[in-house]
Amino acid sequence: MAGLAVNVDHVATLRRARENVSYPDPVYAAVLAELAGADGIVVHLREDRRHIQDNDVKILRNIIQTKLILEMAATSEMVEIALGIKPDVVTLVPEKRSELTTEGGLNLLVNANAVSESVATLQNAGIPVSIFIDPEPEQIKLAHKINAAMVEIHTGSFVEAKTKKQQEKVLSDIRSCAMLANKLKMTVNAGHGLCYQSIKAFKGIAEISEFSIGHSIIARAVMVGMERAVKDMIALIKDL
Ligand code: PXP
Repeated sequence: MAGLAVNVDHVATLRRARENVSYPDPVYAAVLAELAGADGIVVHLREDRRHIQDNDVKILRNIIQTKLILEMAATSEMVEIALGIKPDVVTLVPEKRSELTTEGGLNLLVNANAVSESVATLQNAGIPVSIFIDPEPEQIKLAHKINAAMVEIHTGSFVEAKTKKQQEKVLSDIRSCAMLANKLKMTVNAGHGLCYQSIKAFKGIAEISEFSIGHSIIARAVMVGMERAVKDMIALIKDL
């Protein structure tokens, strides 16, 4: 069965909606997600600190019992922070200041050198690195070439596909990229934009070790609570 890593960034986004309040706390959400059975907690420390703050990551490092996954850009500032925090996994993502959320995978065709340097520094310090990439064989091969331990396949284009035919094409690309990455001995994760409906399409893609899901879980948690929202998603993943 694939695992579930719960991204709690959106709890911090809600905290940020008001000046000078300390609630809701993404740390509380992370603890509740773990208690409900999540296999890991994800936070994205963005360059502009728009939601998760440095202090959140420090506290999470001390209390998370499963796995702390730090999403970040491949910049020297972030690499230094990761070396200090020592998360269990770093996921390297592209970052643009103007975007609402991560808009696509890292393009290793143009960024391989900078990314490769970050991968080497982090992995030499004992932190396995996952690279968030689009479902394209070239990207998978480049991730392997720069020795990344893992890839996270971007599922956004599947979720956003407008027609059934488009969806099937993207899903087939995701499936073949997962198989290729697996063959190259990289751990395969997947995520972005997945919800309680779209997750069902991943049935039978056994190469995916873990799904990274945030927005849909936090949105459901607002209605039914964190524990139920996480358990509902775990039950769907169990069925895949
Ligand atoms: N994976 C990566 C690399 C991401 O950047 C995000 C969003 O922060 C997610 C997964 C989770 O996406 P969503 O919040 O849409 O579930």
